[in-house]
Amino acid sequence: MQGFLSAERRGAVLRSLRSNEGTQSRDYLAAAREVLRELVAMPDVIQRLPLKRTPGGYARNLLAGDGGVSVWAMVWGEGSATSIHDHHCSCCFGVVSGTVTETWYRAIDDSRAIATEEQHRTPGYVACMLPSGPNIHRMRNFGPGEAISIHIYGFDHEIHSSSIEKEYVAVSG
Ligand SMILES: [Fe+2]
Repeated sequence: MQGFLSAERRGAVLRSLRSNEGTQSRDYLAAAREVLRELVAMPDVIQRLPLKRTPGGYARNLLAGDGGVSVWAMVWGEGSATSIHDHHCSCCFGVVSGTVTETWYRAIDDSRAIATEEQHRTPGYVACMLPSGPNIHRMRNFGPGEAISIHIYGFDHEIHSSSIEKEYVAVSG
């Protein structure tokens, strides 16, 4: 675990994400965007890491984790998709390679949601979302080929298994 980046880079990433104001603060989110901009600007370095892959699915690779923050590289196999979900923590991501299609949803009750918007996220794209904002989404890789994205979550990887709070099924509006 956490063996993908050099100790130096891992330390630098975690130092920049350290915040006294918590992982939903403006300073933290600005730092997370900056870290993501740096990482997505080095696709050759990321693509050379010995990242785990799951054919037809997506694989999560822990790049760095410390206290309340964890940084992951996701490798999206062609055709892979997340569930429709929201988050219990702040969730920032950037696309390194390929295209990740992000669909946004609006909950109509505790378990059902209606799609409201869909965007293709391409290399260099960086965004953050907060648990308090509209944050129900689904990510998919329609290909061609795999996609890689980096995700920075405000959760401790030793306490939570993922950033997902709740999952929904899609209904048409
Ligand atoms: Fe998500």
